[in-house]
Amino acid sequence: MLPAHANPMGNVHGGVILKIADEAAAICAMRHAQRQCVTVAIDSVSFHSPVHVGQLLALEAILTYVGRTSLEVRVNVHAEDPIGGVITHTNSAYFVFVALDDQGQPAHVPEIELETEDERARFAEARERQKLRLARAKPL
Ligand SMILES: CC(C)(COP(=O)(O)OP(=O)(O)OC[C@H]1O[C@@H](n2cnc3c(N)ncnc32)[C@H](O)[C@@H]1OP(=O)(O)O)[C@@H](O)C(=O)NCCC(=O)NCCS
Repeated sequence: MLPAHANPMGNVHGGVILKIADEAAAICAMRHAQRQCVTVAIDSVSFHSPVHVGQLLALEAILTYVGRTSLEVRVNVHAEDPIGGVITHTNSAYFVFVALDDQGQPAHVPEIELETEDERARFAEARERQKLRLARAKPL
């Protein structure tokens, strides 16, 4: 992270982190869908610790759920001091994407292969989150 990414306090602007996280999540969604994907919702964004100028960011994007045309991806962000190597978990968020066909219409996505108990539990939790999202999805 460079000075151009900082807010007036000198820490990295939250919007910069969110943009990078959205990009990482979109790559994860597109790899699974094998289609263009657009963000339809972002929630549970947490800023646990500030990211400082000079730190390296590492993003982990995990596909947690697929519906008919939608996908949920969880992103965890870690900041690393290049000198000393201390790593801090700084952010997490859920991103929901919709896969689009060549006409820009929602397109079916492949099912997700759930191999472990953890993956099955994660999927079930994500399905509940998606239900809640849709229940409150009216524009503010
Ligand atoms: C994404 C978009 C094409 C979906 O259109 P739509 O008319 O809502 O389509 P549908 O009603 O068929 O919904 C498509 C899927 O999105 C899901 N969805 C729609 N609104 C949602 C919301 N607010 N939160 C979570 N999921 C949502 C639906 O549940 C459905 O999922 P499913 O097929 O897995 O059941 C449209 O909302 C759009 O173009 N939004 C703008 C996207 C954008 O510009 N993003 C920023 C730049 S990437």
